[in-house]
Amino acid sequence: TQRPIMVQGPMPIEAENFAKKLENVKEEKSGDFVFYIGTLDNYPVIVAKTGKGMENTAAATAVAMERYNPIAIINQGTSGGHDPSLNVFDIVLGERTVNLGSLKTADKAVNEGIDPTIWKPMDLMASEGSAGEDPNAEKPRFYEGDKDLLAAAHAVKDTYTKGKVVDGTIGSADVWNNEVDRIKWFHTKYGTSVEEMEGASAAQIAKAYDVPFLGIRVLSNNKVNGGKYNPNTAAANQEYVYDVVKKYISSM
Ligand code: 5AD
Repeated sequence: TQRPIMVQGPMPIEAENFAKKLENVKEEKSGDFVFYIGTLDNYPVIVAKTGKGMENTAAATAVAMERYNPIAIINQGTSGGHDPSLNVFDIVLGERTVNLGSLKTADKAVNEGIDPTIWKPMDLMASEGSAGEDPNAEKPRFYEGDKDLLAAAHAVKDTYTKGKVVDGTIGSADVWNNEVDRIKWFHTKYGTSVEEMEGASAAQIAKAYDVPFLGIRVLSNNKVNGGKYNPNTAAANQEYVYDVVKKYISSM
């Protein structure tokens, strides 16, 4: 039997449109996670409605690995811009995905205060030892987007007409940043194009199981250039990702 392609979306508006496009759909649940199991061009595709955030996404990804043995995973949905040249409805292909919530603070005694601008990125996967003590862990961990998934995404770029499609860096954490200076800090330090709350956790689990992974994120808002939140971006992204999956299947 063929191993399914898995497409993940956190919120109903980020998963259900894609699920409706599948054929022969049957629904399964595991905890809060909903899996729409169907076909696209006669190839098995599963849409996973994971719920929002890093924990839901990591758990839904691990459950999916054990239950469905996917051949590839696309984590997609909305995001907030970190790059002033990107506008609402533009799409970022995650050449790299990074956890923005994994940080080590400075060493400060009582009454020396709190200073997030000198916090350091922390790589929990650097070693099996203590990340707090390991100087090699003082760096971000970037997960690479799979090159075949990226190639499929590049090949159908022109089908997307609501904005541009660019390669970039997706940053994830259970944080919604509205401080423009903090956003700029991430943009400079990690090279982030956008932020969201799921990609890096799915990428981490995909890597643990050695399954090809790609994040595909549409900007639904961009605080840096005044781009106002637009929920319709979620459906637009799913239409594009549908074309990416179709292309990926045709090249298998
Ligand atoms: N910051 C963080 N998450 C965002 N999302 C959309 N825009 C942003 C943003 N600016 C996505 C997250 C999460 C939900 C809140 O929307 O991935 O699922």
